[in-house]
Amino acid sequence: MPKIVPKPIHVGIIMDGNGRWARSKKLSTTSGHEAGIKTVRLIVEESIRHSIASLTLYAFSTENWQRPKSEILGIGKLLIQAIKDQVPELKEEGVKINFFGQYKKFGSHALKMIKFAEDDTNIKKPKLILNIALGYGGRSDIVSAVNKIINSKQTKKITESSFFSYLDAPVRELDLMIRTGGDKRISNFLLYQLAYTELLFVETLWPNFSQTEYASCLNKFIRTKRSFGKRI
Ligand code: FPP
Repeated sequence: MPKIVPKPIHVGIIMDGNGRWARSKKLSTTSGHEAGIKTVRLIVEESIRHSIASLTLYAFSTENWQRPKSEILGIGKLLIQAIKDQVPELKEEGVKINFFGQYKKFGSHALKMIKFAEDDTNIKKPKLILNIALGYGGRSDIVSAVNKIINSKQTKKITESSFFSYLDAPVRELDLMIRTGGDKRISNFLLYQLAYTELLFVETLWPNFSQTEYASCLNKFIRTKRSFGKRI
């Protein structure tokens, strides 16, 4: 019998499949991202129900800057609207929001709203910490951490644990990472933090990813034996 492990405390999700979902319905890509935002809300609610401590979502990668301008503009607008519509309720529910990554290019309005979301939900004992990776790339985060260490001229030895504090992503190890949309890739997500993460790849396109399927991913994780390389 596999050993029962506690529920994941830190879940990451690569939310893939908005574009294909939209195309299958002959809708615009932006409509796909709009549907994706509705799924984000459902998954946040389900995370609270399952007492997940942190949920880290990959909303936009450094590579995504190469997408058509109209799509990037659409995501920026959806983000602003989602913050306006959802932050008061999320705060009420005990959700603390953090953004990380190189998201300046989304423009000053988006920057203002991101700051508002972070400041307004800066609650002391959050039920859920929601981290949103926006304009993020794992490799460049590691390289920039190394450069910070070189420039700091500090002489103390860097440990695997202390290295985290040089990374831009304000998150530690992930327990479970789910990718929707059928591809089995990490796509430059949190490379340093994923070293011992359980990976789950599901075929479902992100807008169709339901609370039930998410709950079943969490249950699958609970049944997984995690040895971290040791013999147990
Ligand atoms: C991947 O689908 C999705 C993205 C690149 C953007 C994800 C964005 C959202 C869910 C909306 C924004 C959310 C927040 C919280 C800001 P894809 O377009 O790569 O899908 P495809 O592989 O089917 O083309």
